[in-house]
Amino acid sequence: MYDGFAQYYDAVMGAPTARLERLAEFVADYGPTGGRALELGCGTGLLLEHLQPDFECSGLDSSPSMLEIAGRRCPAASLYLADMTNFRIGEAFDVIYSLFDTLNHVSPVERWGDVFRLAAEHLRVGGLLVFDVNTRTRLADLSRAEPWSLEVDGARVVLDVTQADSSTDIFEFHIEVSPPGEREPFSEVVPELAVGLEEIEARLHPWFSVLARVDEAGRPAGEISGHVYYACRRR
Ligand SMILES: C[S@@+](CC[C@H](N)C(=O)[O-])C[C@H]1O[C@@H](n2cnc3c(N)ncnc32)[C@H](O)[C@@H]1O
Repeated sequence: MYDGFAQYYDAVMGAPTARLERLAEFVADYGPTGGRALELGCGTGLLLEHLQPDFECSGLDSSPSMLEIAGRRCPAASLYLADMTNFRIGEAFDVIYSLFDTLNHVSPVERWGDVFRLAAEHLRVGGLLVFDVNTRTRLADLSRAEPWSLEVDGARVVLDVTQADSSTDIFEFHIEVSPPGEREPFSEVVPELAVGLEEIEARLHPWFSVLARVDEAGRPAGEISGHVYYACRRR
């Protein structure tokens, strides 16, 4: 997943402004404002780069191509090729975060519990967990929308979201890239799982207290919010 798309990721996704703002706000509100930070699903290192002045940064990702870009962007960060549902780093962190609906990439939902347990095991008591999710509302809206296309570095990129089967909560992001010149077009499918907020909180509960649950605008979020950001304290 993401290996073919990695070279286009930054240009297609743009600046990580919204998620960075939310992360910075949570860190300022709930601390700690320094120490060791770990990103689960760090991708090309867009967020790690911004945390580096204040935190000693680590990131893990399951895509070698994404991680290679992160390594060039953040040479001082410790980077791990690993699965966020099954990893062990022999260090305790002050902040662990996973943003841009990375958790939605994990299925089935039981594995979300594995991610929360591993985050708890890698956080010191009192440490902060920050993550965001696309809600079912948002994924369903995206699946009803027209495909979205754009030009990036001379390549044509088309993104289309579908719900493979209405009896499941899996939505598929179909990414098609037609590179310029003679290069072969390629496509990838990135699945995202919709999980209800009540279920997310039940799976957090053994280890974490929820400090904040807000939408894109920082208002209290619910099931009808498109995107939800969580700040949680390791008990
Ligand atoms: C939408 S991107 C987000 C990247 C980055 N967090 C950002 O904000 O730009 C999702 C990333 O999660 C990674 N990923 C998906 N499932 C994963 C898993 N089980 N373990 C580790 N990384 C995973 C993908 O390879 C991809 O780099």
